[in-house]
Amino acid sequence: MTGWPKRVPGLCWGADYNPEQWPEQVWAQDLALMREAGVNLVSVGIFSWALLEVEEGRYEFGWLDRVLDLLHEGGIRVDLATATASPPPWLTHRYPEVLPVREDGVRFSHGSRQEYCPNSPVYREKSVALAEKLALRYAEHPALAAWHVNNEYGCHVRRCYCQRCAEAFREWLKARYSKDLAALNEAWGTAFWSQHYSDWALVQPPRVTPTYGNPGQLLDFDRFGSDTLLELFVAERDVLRAITPDVPVTTNFMAGWTFGALDYWSWAREVDFVSNDHYTRAEDEQRHVELALSADLVRGLAGGKPWLLMEHSTSAVNWQPRNRAKQPGELARNSLSHVARGADGTLFFQWRASRAGAERYHSAMLPHAGSDTRVFREVCELGAAYRRCAELVGSTVDAQAALVFDFQAGWAAEQPAHPTQDFRYHEAVLGVYRALWQAGITVDVVPPSADLGRYPLVVVPALYLVSDENARSFDQYVAAGGHLLMTWFSGITDEHARVRLGGYPGAFADLLGVRVEEFYPLGAGERVRLSNGATADTWTELLHPEGAEAVASHVDGPLPGVPAITRNEHGSGLAWYVATTLDPDSMLGLVREVAERAGARPVVRAPAGVEVVRRTGEGPRGPISWLVVVNHTGAEVVLPVRGIELAAGSDVPGCLAVPAGGTAVVREV
Ligand code: GLA
Ligand code: GLA
Repeated sequence: MTGWPKRVPGLCWGADYNPEQWPEQVWAQDLALMREAGVNLVSVGIFSWALLEVEEGRYEFGWLDRVLDLLHEGGIRVDLATATASPPPWLTHRYPEVLPVREDGVRFSHGSRQEYCPNSPVYREKSVALAEKLALRYAEHPALAAWHVNNEYGCHVRRCYCQRCAEAFREWLKARYSKDLAALNEAWGTAFWSQHYSDWALVQPPRVTPTYGNPGQLLDFDRFGSDTLLELFVAERDVLRAITPDVPVTTNFMAGWTFGALDYWSWAREVDFVSNDHYTRAEDEQRHVELALSADLVRGLAGGKPWLLMEHSTSAVNWQPRNRAKQPGELARNSLSHVARGADGTLFFQWRASRAGAERYHSAMLPHAGSDTRVFREVCELGAAYRRCAELVGSTVDAQAALVFDFQAGWAAEQPAHPTQDFRYHEAVLGVYRALWQAGITVDVVPPSADLGRYPLVVVPALYLVSDENARSFDQYVAAGGHLLMTWFSGITDEHARVRLGGYPGAFADLLGVRVEEFYPLGAGERVRLSNGATADTWTELLHPEGAEAVASHVDGPLPGVPAITRNEHGSGLAWYVATTLDPDSMLGLVREVAERAGARPVVRAPAGVEVVRRTGEGPRGPISWLVVVNHTGAEVVLPVRGIELAAGSDVPGCLAVPAGGTAVVREV
């Protein structure tokens, strides 16, 4: 693996650059302003297929040659796209089978983007051919720093349900079940509703059906959907690697509240470096916390190594119900939160706001109003700060706890015909993450198969689906002295989404020392009270302690007197269970207590709403550490910190004042 795009000096800083949307006279101005903003990396050509291969087999690279040369003259490196994210009209016109098919049989039309079926041989052939052409042409170009394959796989077309995908799904299933149809029938539980398959040819994708589909089929189709898109990435990547073995290859993930289509744990193994796109949701007042979760997850995907924020926005987006501009300073706070959590650079979508096309109301580094704007001034200021923080590059993040996250468990837990429609995996994760964030505890986000031994505390929100093997490793972790906090809807099924018998939470009943008989989900807006003063919503369950002690029980609601929070001594460790959705303050109180007992302490004791993360690295004279501080509050805060503030170049003699909404990066001494 070639790893990081080392040709970029310092922290990466720039944007998607779409010069083909503008006359060439504008490019010189772009370059001048990019230099003013300190830009050192741009992604070029992501949606350029139709202007690079203007007809089948007729390529026009002249304009791209000129763009790359110009960027090189300006000292700006290029993350060059393979341009395969949006097939050109000639392709889908001549080969309509390239167009993907929805669950209900409707074939998509041309006119937007991502209109390709992952199993279309024509799309594969043409996209790999284009990637090859680009690699051959630009292999020696001095501006080339990285390859950007396709764009946000699965963003709009999560799954395709066409005949070719049906065939590919059957092949995938044969491999998964070792060509044993009986094993598939068993895994999917096809004795139910007369679904038994007597021939592989009868198996279909889960298209629109009269009522609920088969859970095993739905889950395997999700797994297949992720794998089949990954094959597309790998096909392009392999061609690029063969021609330019020293240029790292990435594709931009969407690990945030919009995630869902792909199992990024398996994708992350295939990229040379991990890159991610993240957009905050304007209406979420706690959007900086959701951002932090996304960044921690992406660092987990990167195995703790530096990663790149490939896209976020300087200000408003164009695709939410109401697209509000960001607050002054929010751009810097967002960017530095990603950096705090391991990003060695942040790029925006996009450099210059478009005047036409569906995204013309999306913000950019250079707004419609031009360079005499707040956004452009904030961009230039942050670009200058990044240059002064270049020493962070290559350092890693210190975490005090682990949070277990699993895409497949999320897919399974959100299937239809479940005990409540109110379960959202992301909300379940965020519910406990928010408390950790507020407690100042940095977490590594890890897969269920991770080695947990080095963490004093492991938090496991709603791990609905789990294999026996992974379940055992949690058991061993606690038995060996670990502290674990688990929340409801965990351990319920095996890896085929079949319910584990003998009482919930199935795989974890012994570890937690509880047995749950029945679920009592709460109504919309219904709240219950607990004996420790907490309130809760969404979920309750009829739980019997079997070895565990009750920490708090229900006072009212459907299950008065029944424990809702329990604690179990297991081996030399402690396993806590939360069988309801606690209000945020109560969750914070609980997390503080659990963390205290586990010995997981915040980096620095900071007031509420102040984010402090430590990065560490090796300097010429031994270890170095930095604190990245982001003040999300409306008041100045003072922290007990000693060192040098890099952006301002000022001494921090023992107390650091960070203004309301401000940020700081301190090399500790
Ligand atoms: C109907 C059907 C049953 C079952 C139940 C579930 O009554 O006839 O097969 O699906 O609904 O409530
Ligand atoms: C995604 C895409 C970009 C652009 C932005 C808009 O991240 O990758 O091309 O559409 O969304 O927010």
